[in-house]
Amino acid sequence: MKHLFVANWKMNLPFNEAIDFCQQHATALAELCLTKECELVLCPSFEALHTVATILQKTQIAVGAQDVSRHATGAYTGEVSATSLAQAGCSYCIIGHSERRHYYQERTIDIEHKLKECIKNGITPIICIGETEQERNEGNTLDILNEQLIPLLQTIAQQDNAMPYVVAYEPVWAIGTGVVPTPEALNEVFKWLHTTCNTETGSSFRLLYGGGVDEKSAHGLRHISHLNGFLIGGASTSFERLKKVVQYD
Ligand code: PGA
Repeated sequence: MKHLFVANWKMNLPFNEAIDFCQQHATALAELCLTKECELVLCPSFEALHTVATILQKTQIAVGAQDVSRHATGAYTGEVSATSLAQAGCSYCIIGHSERRHYYQERTIDIEHKLKECIKNGITPIICIGETEQERNEGNTLDILNEQLIPLLQTIAQQDNAMPYVVAYEPVWAIGTGVVPTPEALNEVFKWLHTTCNTETGSSFRLLYGGGVDEKSAHGLRHISHLNGFLIGGASTSFERLKKVVQYD
């Protein structure tokens, strides 16, 4: 299975910078991915999706959104539907990111609707799950992941399409900190994820790690079993740093 790198630019690259990034570096990144036999998804904010998708059209680099509305259509001011995302050129969409869960009180039921909208529109969902520091310290990591993931896997199990799914394990305490879990802790989570996703759905999954991934940590993370790539925040907004993460994998 090819490794997948997802660049989550969050709200860090405004429109002009996102476009400049793609115009200047898409060719080099696409060549690097060909050499490394991996795949790359760039996730700019909504307003840049269509322009970024147009620039990347001639490359193998895919475009992803950072969120989607839980509704299909209607009077929902400020929301963006999965249909619009697909029409704008998105083939991936991050759902359930911990920043959405935390700042916008997203619940599992919201994420379930978002998942269904993505699937209906042929967009590969990148489902984010992760525990807080307190939950980890209390020894509840797998229980929390189970609680976040099982309802979504049940939704997936009801689908009759053969879409590839992506789950990103992102411990909340590692996001933006540069601190990553130990290899032992990651091996435990990824073994559990691999078994759970397969037994619950029978679908094919790519399992990513996110949180503190950068040019320093990527090298040490690549031997985790069942790990198929990374979701990269801060380090992905710099071409040089993103390139190194892809190179070091
Ligand atoms: P980070 O963010 O790489 O800056 O830790 C990852 C994420 O939030 O997806």
